[in-house]
Amino acid sequence: MNPKVVAVVGATGLVGRKMIETLENRNFPVKAIKFLASERSRVRKLAYKGEEIPVEVLDENSFKGIEIALFSAGGSTSKKFAPIAAKDGCVVVDNSSAWRMDPEVPLVVPEVNAHEIKNHKGIIANPNCSTIQMVVALKPIHDFARIERIVVSTYQAVSGAGQNAVQELLNQMQAYVEGKPLEIKVFPHQILFNCIPQIPQKDAFEANGYTNEEMKMVNETKKIMGDPSIQVTATTVRVPVISSHSESVNIQTEKKVTVEKARELLANAPGVVLMDDPAKQVYPLATMAAGRWETFVGRIREDISHPRALDMWIVADNLLKGAAYNAVQIAEYL
Ligand code: A2P
Repeated sequence: MNPKVVAVVGATGLVGRKMIETLENRNFPVKAIKFLASERSRVRKLAYKGEEIPVEVLDENSFKGIEIALFSAGGSTSKKFAPIAAKDGCVVVDNSSAWRMDPEVPLVVPEVNAHEIKNHKGIIANPNCSTIQMVVALKPIHDFARIERIVVSTYQAVSGAGQNAVQELLNQMQAYVEGKPLEIKVFPHQILFNCIPQIPQKDAFEANGYTNEEMKMVNETKKIMGDPSIQVTATTVRVPVISSHSESVNIQTEKKVTVEKARELLANAPGVVLMDDPAKQVYPLATMAAGRWETFVGRIREDISHPRALDMWIVADNLLKGAAYNAVQIAEYL
């Protein structure tokens, strides 16, 4: 592949910095790299392969000469600047939710629907973090037995809500140890020692009682799998974990899938690591998935309440497979 001129938009954020790290770690062929963020980061520098690169303030002229731009600076920034970048001939891989459900924009998890990448018109959307890891694990089972219905509950890390959210959990831990009152700013309630069934933290609830995050899992799963007939219901929960989302997933299939068959399918699936030896207490954990690119699956069992259903536990690093690595993978396909 010819080296590319790359920009990272939102380079100073948690996902932005993981994007930079992933480009480095995967030896992405970079001819030149530009880091973009808001006015607040004007004087900052970020390292790329040992070189200190000044962060530039994003504006309408930022994309001249850029070939690939990885965006992770929030929905409103993507809404405004992705079309400007695309007009300048740049291909945008956008981590926000701004473009995901646009019928003109491919929504891509390379292990599932890499063939959609070529249909882009300048913008490719990176799906929601919880959705990505779920579809990586479910695609091989869907191909074999057709999934009719998915019931998922998530246990999502605070890093999915950005660096202020991680800091809030750490601050609450420290305040608790010191016997001081806990400060609540980012999350709607205390996150330390809690599970909060509301993601995102602001304006979460839709008219049907689901949160935006839950409806993303419903809608994005159908689009990525290319099958609007898959029924999905989700409950998404923030837990006091820093890295990696965990998911309890129940699937009902048209054709029965035994545990052995599911294990065989997952053992051979791209991007999946099967970790399923309950007798030895081997199953995926958030701490072991952190820093890894793969999606980990275990606790696979036949649902005793239904003749054609399986339960499983799916874990992945939400900032890597759930965001930065998936985006860089798409850029590699480009
Ligand atoms: P900055 O650091 O200058 O505020 P996180 O989700 O981890 O908080 O990161 C958000 C990222 O998006 C940061 O890099 C942030 O830059 C960037 N960002 C937020 N708003 C804008 C904006 N209006 N223009 C450019 N970058 C933005």
